[in-house]
This record gives sequence, structure tokens and C-alpha cells, in this order.
Amino acid sequence: MLTMSGKAAFPVLNIALTDAMQTIHTVKELRAALNRYRQTGKSIALVPTMGNLHDGHIRLIKKANELADITVCSIFVNPMQFGANEDLDAYPRTLDQDSQRLQAAQCALLFAPSVSEVYPEGLEQQTVVHVPGISSHHCGASRPGHFDGVATVVSKLFHMVQPDHALFGLKDYQQFQVIRKMVTDQCFDIKLHGVPTVRDEHGLALSSRNGYLSPSEIETARHLYRQLSSVASAIQQGSKAFTKLEKDSYSYWESLGIRMDYFQICHYQTLQPMTELTAAEQESVDHCVLLVAAFVGNTRLIDNLVTNRPN
Ligand code: PAJ
Repeated sequence: MLTMSGKAAFPVLNIALTDAMQTIHTVKELRAALNRYRQTGKSIALVPTMGNLHDGHIRLIKKANELADITVCSIFVNPMQFGANEDLDAYPRTLDQDSQRLQAAQCALLFAPSVSEVYPEGLEQQTVVHVPGISSHHCGASRPGHFDGVATVVSKLFHMVQPDHALFGLKDYQQFQVIRKMVTDQCFDIKLHGVPTVRDEHGLALSSRNGYLSPSEIETARHLYRQLSSVASAIQQGSKAFTKLEKDSYSYWESLGIRMDYFQICHYQTLQPMTELTAAEQESVDHCVLLVAAFVGNTRLIDNLVTNRPN
């Protein structure tokens, strides 16, 4: 409607109208919503999470937005990947806050199912996806059954969402390699993307579990990445003294009160320890990954750094 002066009678709001994010709790509704998108030729990216979202998760959402038309974020604290003495009950559940962060990051759809929606017959009756070999060492040795829980839930989410792309953080380096193998072995037609670790300004890898740390424990935890960086520099400068680098790092971290689970310099894809390779095999490895897991106070943290070796 125009006024006598020819101007619009109602003020025109100069804001970008963004579509509201849809929140869905059941597989049936999820399938219906995604089918509507697929019918109009839209591509779909999935970012699986356990919620309590931080900037690391949001980096995955933003990357997903670049890769596909529709970003789906799942939030599900998966009981199957927690051991009996682990923090399943204490794990932070912050759905309202997470939902706001996802909306601001322009995620199209939040899928937040209940435990009974994902495991309707209970955990005991659930078919388990076991990825052999790579699931059994490092975090798999310290947390028996953990990667079966991860592979099972991720495989279920892949079937529920049937995304074109799926994004995971390289912060959980072994998890990424487990999922990579599962995608290959199970012939999932999904393009996997590993997104680099987001850190705080002092190098500490962002993690939902950092919320368990006191201010002084955060200071201590920052030494994990500092030491990884100095081992990486030594390797880049040609050091082949892997056992010594590992031992010295252990002693350094322990001197700060950090309780070590493991620290190992490994082949970046197979995760085979460099120290277990022959000298000739070691020479042929062009990238190593430094894998660490350790307790700061009662909180178990993991981190890693991929480094190239001089040729
Ligand atoms: P969660 O710990 O919530 O992490 C969800 C995703 O965010 C994972 O792919 C993880 O690697 C990534 N991520 C976490 N911290 C990050 C950081 N600092 N920088 C970049 N990416 C980061 O990992 C899980 O949940 C679960 O095991 C899951 C895959 C959802 C299966 O239950």
C-alpha cells in the first residue's frame, strides 16, 4: 500500500529473513523432512555430536553449510560408547543452549532423539558394528567397547539421515580413522570430511570435557599441546629417536601432575607405532601422528598432532 507521498505505509524491515531451524526427535519425522528436501534436489550434510556445543562443533556446522544445501546436526549422548565407570550421567546436556547456537550457525535441522528412539529394543539387543584392528588399541584399549559404540551409533545415524556428506573432527583422530574404515567396509555412499582441531588461544583443544577442569587444571592441560608441538618440531628436524621423544614427553607431563594413559608416535593412517616398524619401514613413513591421552585431575583428555617428516 502506498501513501499520498508514494512511500510505503508500513516500515520495510531491512533484515535478512533466515529459515528457522527445525528440531526433530523421531526417525519417522526425520525421514519425512529429509525426503522433502531430497525431492527438490537438495544435498545433505550430517554433523553427529553429543551436544554441549563449542566452537569446535560449530566449525563443523559451518563447513557442512559450505558443502551441502542442508545441514543436519544430531545431538545424542550415546550410552553405548560409555564404559561402566565413565561419565555418561555427568555428561553435560544443554539442548536449549545448543539449539540457539545451531540456529545462529544456520543449521537447517537438529535431530535430537531419545535413547529409546535410537535403541528401541535396548542396548543388549542392538546389532553391533565392530571395526576390527583399529578399534582395539590406544583409546580402544583404554576404553573397551568404546569404538563399537561409536561405530554402531554413527552407522545408525548414517542410515537414518542418508547424508551426501558427513563431517567429523580430527581432534578425535582415532575415531575418524575408525569411521573411515567403517564407511569403506560397509560401502556407505557418503563423502567423509575430517575437520582440523579448533583450539583455544593457548593451544588447548576445545572439548566438552574441558568444562570439568578447574582454572589451574586448564593451565596444566595446555601443556599437552605445547609438548606435542615440540615433539613435532623435533621430528620435522629429522629426529628418529621416537622412543626417547616418547619417554621424555611422559616424564615432562608426569612432572606437571598429569597422569598418562598413552603417548605414541604413529603412522598417520594405520596408527601403527613408529617404534614397532623396522628402520626401513620407518624411513618410508612421510607423516606421523602424535597421539596422547591423559588425565588432568579426574578428566581424561585426548589430543593429537599430525606432522610431516623431512624427505
Ligand atoms: P562429540 O564429542 O560431541 O564430538 C562431535 C564432533 O565434534 C566429533 O566429530 C569431534 O571430533 C568434533 N570435535 C570435538 N571437539 C572438536 C574440536 N576442538 N575441533 C574440531 N572438532 C571437534 O565425537 C563424538 O561427539 C561422538 O563420538 C559421536 C561421533 C557424535 C558419536 O556418538
